[in-house]
Amino acid sequence: MMLIEDLSVGYRETPVLRGIDLKIEAGEILVLVGGSGCGKSTVLRTLAGLHRPSGGTISLDGQPIARTSAERALVFQEDGLLPWRSVRRNVELPLAIRGVSKSSRRSQALSWIERVGLGGYADHLPRELSGGMRQRVQLARTLASGPRVILADEPFGALDAQTRRAMQLLLVDVWSQQPTTIVFVTHDVDEAVFLGDRVAVLGGKPTGIRSIVDVPFPRGDGDNSAARAEILAALGSTQ
Ligand SMILES: Nc1ncnc2c1ncn2[C@@H]1O[C@H](COP(=O)(O)OP(=O)(O)O)[C@@H](O)[C@H]1O
Ligand SMILES: [Mg+2]
Repeated sequence: MMLIEDLSVGYRETPVLRGIDLKIEAGEILVLVGGSGCGKSTVLRTLAGLHRPSGGTISLDGQPIARTSAERALVFQEDGLLPWRSVRRNVELPLAIRGVSKSSRRSQALSWIERVGLGGYADHLPRELSGGMRQRVQLARTLASGPRVILADEPFGALDAQTRRAMQLLLVDVWSQQPTTIVFVTHDVDEAVFLGDRVAVLGGKPTGIRSIVDVPFPRGDGDNSAARAEILAALGSTQ
């Protein structure tokens, strides 16, 4: 479980986030929504350990987090794949860094590549793939690294609507086989309701949590108009 208590974060003298309290359960998908520039990426970078809070505490299973760690994987909109490495060798990279043997990392990578629907593309280079396929490779690489928490910063934001929905379904599918704690940032309310167990609406100045909306339906079960209305109302009150 990740526990965030009275977190404040700023850049130099400018406060961005203040008084953030969040308890993120193990295996939960918590979605953060909020207007552009409100500090969503700042929350994730701080949870990743890339940015030092100006106040408050963050702990993972009782251990305060201090710096970056492979146990908290950050995933971006830009895929960040190494262009000269094949799909397989990109997915193997975090395993290689951990010192996993060649044959074991190869078989693990191939199995994740299969799981994200890219069997047959293991030897392709990133530039030979579409944007959606590259995002699948990134997801495979993240999952292969076995993080305890995935911090996803608008990962599907650059994809067309159809590819985006396919990626959401894939994430739900992979998650349901192996529930990993996910903190997922989006500014798309549909995506938030589709993926989240809970949706935290950020807003204000400095930014705080306006509202936490429970999404009661089974995950990925399409429409949930009550939760959507509640999120939109909370977002509206922040404008
Ligand atoms: N490296 C930085 N230095 C100074 N200010 C920053 C930096 N990164 C973000 N900010 C500011 O912090 C605020 C929140 O940014 P960000 O977390 O990127 O918001 P969001 O992801 O919600 O769009 C914005 O006002 C932005 O200009
Ligand atoms: Mg951002």
